[in-house]
Order: sequence, then structure tokens, then C-alpha cells
Amino acid sequence: MNNIREITDNVFYVGVNDRRIDRFENMFPLTKGVAYNSYLIKDKKNVLLDSVEAAFTRAYLENIEKALDGEDLDYLVVHHMEPDHCRNIDFVLNKYPNAKFVGNAKTFKFYEQFYNDAFKDRYYEVKEGDEIDLGKHKLKFVFAPMVHWPEVMMSYESTDKLLFTADAFGAFNTIDGHLKAKNIIHRGNWLDEARRYYVNIVGKFGNQVQALFKKVHDLEVNAILPLHGPVYDDKDSIDFIMEKYNKWSTFTPEEKGVVIVFASMYGDTEQACDILAKELDELGVNEEIEIYDVSNTDLSYIISACHKYSHAVFAPINYNSGLYYKMGAFLEELVGTGYKNRHVAFLNNWSWGGTSLKVSKELLETGKHTYIGEDVLINSSVKDQQVEEIKNLAKAIKEDLDRM
Ligand SMILES: [Fe+2]
Ligand SMILES: [Fe+2]
Repeated sequence: MNNIREITDNVFYVGVNDRRIDRFENMFPLTKGVAYNSYLIKDKKNVLLDSVEAAFTRAYLENIEKALDGEDLDYLVVHHMEPDHCRNIDFVLNKYPNAKFVGNAKTFKFYEQFYNDAFKDRYYEVKEGDEIDLGKHKLKFVFAPMVHWPEVMMSYESTDKLLFTADAFGAFNTIDGHLKAKNIIHRGNWLDEARRYYVNIVGKFGNQVQALFKKVHDLEVNAILPLHGPVYDDKDSIDFIMEKYNKWSTFTPEEKGVVIVFASMYGDTEQACDILAKELDELGVNEEIEIYDVSNTDLSYIISACHKYSHAVFAPINYNSGLYYKMGAFLEELVGTGYKNRHVAFLNNWSWGGTSLKVSKELLETGKHTYIGEDVLINSSVKDQQVEEIKNLAKAIKEDLDRM
């Protein structure tokens, strides 16, 4: 059996869906799996673009065989050497002994680091701007270092104007029938999952994404073909995802809104956050308010929400005189994704002392945030005095939202 799709004349989708995976990179929980995309262009020379994860060898090789329809494979292009796209390289090269292994110097270095040097004599090294002539189609290489690994490159097919973008423009979720972006990106949780993928996996490298955009700015692009998620082959979908990527990669909030992130052992800090959210509502804040508990929500969701919205309130607590470690892990990872330029406030439960507020502020320091209102300090539980302070903080946030 096979599950191939013809995207445009003689350009095939030969990727697979992974619904058995619980966590991407053994870290990010998946609710609807992930797709490993791979493409095959048939021409005078046939080229396969990237491969897929380990568990799918049989289905993947069948897809390739079906798309080739009896013809041989001339090239395997590896845009990205991360194992989710590389664990079938050796199976492909063994099955198609005439195929050249196309990559750059770093691709081959990483291939040998992860696997072996058994295919050394089949390396076809390309440099930035090099082109492979397939016949009707021509494939030109655009290097995209640190989007999100050092060896990453993209390729531009200049006849049909297709941009193969490696992990850039990828998203979580399997491809359930609809391969084209226009049928997916405005439905369900797709945008949330695309953002969570980008922010957590590529997020830190916003400057490199912007550098790449400058490089490809003048190219006419009819379709974006990433290594995960749908294919963007209409102007509206391309414009939509480009606008999102421009915001995400420049650390610009997508929307006005308030994320409240708390740590709470016995519910008192949580109560303070609920009071703050209620006050925001009663003051007439119409924007989204989302409250997250660092102890029971996977950090990737909270980090994604922080990148989405303009405002964040952090409510850290002390533990062993320092910062409660789940809040510490969250803030460290948030900073690690390049989080910056937001309007933030603090609500701290200090009980009998400790450095949680100080450490939290130090962690966020590199983000050049604008601090809103006065820090609210809670001494174990919320008393009338603190309710007043929380109300004042809510007013400060409301006024700030209204100024934006
Ligand atoms: Fe990757
Ligand atoms: Fe990937």
C-alpha cells in the first residue's frame, strides 16, 4: 500500500503520519501526533527531499517506490540532519545505489556523528546558491543556518516556484487527509499547535529566521513545503503564515491579552491570581486572560501563550528559600525561547522570606520588558490589604492595555 499525493505536476508528497508518539523530541506532548514530510520530484533526474522517522521505513519506502513508478532515484537531498528526518537515509541509499546523497559540509559531518560514513563515496556537496538541474525542474540551495540547526538549508525549485523549507513553517499535528494549508490552518487548534511548535523549537532563533526572510525576499514562491504540517500553496495561506512568522520571529505579540502564570503549593497564590483575573474582567478588560499553573501544565503550552500575548503576570513562590523549581524551570525555558519586549508584572508569595521574586526578575532581565504596576507581595495568604494591591495592579494593567 502507499499513501502518496501529487502536489503539483510530478511533485509528490511521500511523507508519513506518526500517531503513536507521545512527546516530540521526548519533551513536547502531542495530542494529535506529528507528520514527517518528504517530497519527491520526478524529472529527467529524480530527487527525494528528506526522509522520515525510524518506525516508518516500510511505508515510506513503499511511498517512494510508488511515486518513482519503476524509475531509479538520482538524488536524496537532506535539508536538515535531525533524526526525525534522517533515520531512513541509509535505507533509501541502500535501496537506490545510484542515488547521490546531497548535503552541505555540515550535513555530512552530522551524518557521520549520528550514524556512519558508509556513504562517503556518494556525497554530493553543495554550497550556498548551487543549483542541481533535474531537467524541467531546477533546485537551488539556500542555506538557513540555525533555523534551527547549523546545517539547515532550504531549496528553491525555480520552475514551479516551490520553496522546501525544512523545519521552518512546520507544525505539530498529523495530516488527516487535508494536505493543503487552506483546509487546515483556520480550523481547530491548528494555529495554537503551529505556534507551540515554532516558539518552543525554533523560537530562540528569531534573528536567523529574519535573516532567512531577507535572503528569500525576492523569490517568487507559489508553495511552501515544510518538513512537518501542511503544504502552503495558495496566496492567502502563504500570507497568513508569513505574517505569523514575522511576528513570532521578531518577538512581537500577536494579540493584546494577559497571561497569568503561577506556582502554588496550597492554593493561596492561585487564589491571588484568580482575584487578579476577576478584577481585570470587572474593569472591562475584553482581551483574553489565560491562567496557567506551572505545576500541572506542560511548559511548552505556557511558553507559547506568553509569546502570543502582550502582557504577562508572573506569580513565583519560595521553596527552600529560593525559587520554586518548576517556576524556575519555566522562566529559564521561557527566556531560552527568546521571550522579550513584553509588558510584565509580578505577584509574589514570599511567606517568611526567600529570593523567588529577585531570582525571577534576574532571569527575565535579558528580555528588556516593561514593568507594569507595583509588585504585589502576599504573606502566605491573601488579606484585605493584598486585595487592594491586586486591584491596583489590575488597574495598571487595564490602563496599559488601553494605551496599546
Ligand atoms: Fe529539527
Ligand atoms: Fe523536524
